[in-house]
Amino acid sequence: MPNIVVVGTQWGDEGKGKVVDVLTPQVNVVVRYQGGNNAGHTVVVGKEKYVLHSIPSGILHPGCRCVVGCGVVVDPGALIHEMEMLVQRGVTLDGNLFISKNAHVIMPYHPALDRGSEAKLGARRIGTTGKGVGPAYVDKAARIGIRMADLLDQKLFKEKLTYNVAQKNRILRDIYGAQTFSIEEILNPYLDYAGWLAPYITDTALLLTKWIDNGYSVLFEGAQATMLDLDHGTYPYVTSSSTTAGGAATGSGVPPTRINGILGVAKAYATRVGDGPFPTEMKGEMSEYIRARGNEYGATTGRPRRCGWFDALVLRYAVRINGLDTVALTKLDVLDQSQTVKICTGYRYRGDVLTDFPEGESVLREIQPVYEEVEGWMTPTSGAKCEGDLPAKARRYLERLEELIGVPFCLISTGPQRDDTIICDDSPLLRWFPSVRSTLL
Ligand code: IMP
Repeated sequence: MPNIVVVGTQWGDEGKGKVVDVLTPQVNVVVRYQGGNNAGHTVVVGKEKYVLHSIPSGILHPGCRCVVGCGVVVDPGALIHEMEMLVQRGVTLDGNLFISKNAHVIMPYHPALDRGSEAKLGARRIGTTGKGVGPAYVDKAARIGIRMADLLDQKLFKEKLTYNVAQKNRILRDIYGAQTFSIEEILNPYLDYAGWLAPYITDTALLLTKWIDNGYSVLFEGAQATMLDLDHGTYPYVTSSSTTAGGAATGSGVPPTRINGILGVAKAYATRVGDGPFPTEMKGEMSEYIRARGNEYGATTGRPRRCGWFDALVLRYAVRINGLDTVALTKLDVLDQSQTVKICTGYRYRGDVLTDFPEGESVLREIQPVYEEVEGWMTPTSGAKCEGDLPAKARRYLERLEELIGVPFCLISTGPQRDDTIICDDSPLLRWFPSVRSTLL
């Protein structure tokens, strides 16, 4: 049974939630391995729309086991809120949800530090979601973080909290001029959260290995995306975790040797929310048109997303960094009424044309995208059941993209519903999950 990683290839919001939702009936377990409630995965099931932030979208499939891995940072209040929302809508969590005891906890001072840091950075701000994710990872790396298991040990939790509150208060007061926290105002609510979450907190790395040994198939659900990776993204305009495929192993405790394939998810165009380089960003009316047609507003913050053309350099970079076997292309339908569609094939830089994504903030400031234009298909694509159903010009667009990125598409999404999905012939996806088409019927 294959264990597959699903990873974003651009700046997030590629539609990973929908792809995971389509693949979940093929697997037994879905794992989140990094990030926190900065993520927002939107899944539409029939007439119901779900926005999930911390819990893998696999939870919407009865019987699917969902794991919040050790690489995730958990805001317990927000997690409980999400759990209550799911239970109210008839989703069973008991026996299906497992939270790593090693996952770090987002404390109330983390969002405050996030806001303070952003305000201090001024024009150089990152444009974070303000959920405290970065500061929680800072504490993890500084080895003063509080883990889920610590919440279950009152004495240890109080000790750690006391140290942290004193340290954070100094930063909040003296550096950011912000409000401070008392131990009491955090301790009791967090002990309540601990009581609530205790039945779900466990050694998930051990569980996952046992399940894999027993022949279970695992899907690793990435959050954010390659260009937001702490090491490989457009640093410093990135998130604070390892969003790329390598993070799936460290963030879950499943060794890389047990991972069998990597699937990237890309939009037929590109978006970015937050600040930082975005070489193919559209200007003016076109950007507004795509934003409206693609409903490009952040699922977590509601911020309007910046919109741009498909960037083949970004995709080739994602193929290389993640070792992608295949790509699922989403939101093709958003381009259905565009007279022309542009593809970025290179960056002009000081008289040269670069064809590999360059690393380095200063290079990215100077580059100009080189575009190839293809004729738009001006025909609806939603409802197409196979590649042959797509208009010829849309097929040509897809073929050109495949040629430029060097790996085959496995899935084309033409709308938010599960059945607005084409599974491509001869793709690695059909090799991994031969019956994937049947779940769309
Ligand atoms: P943080 O993760 O809140 O620290 O934000 C760092 C950067 O990552 C900002 O540009 C955010 O807009 C971006 N970001 C974080 N989570 C997501 C996501 O789920 N989708 C898209 N962008 C995200």
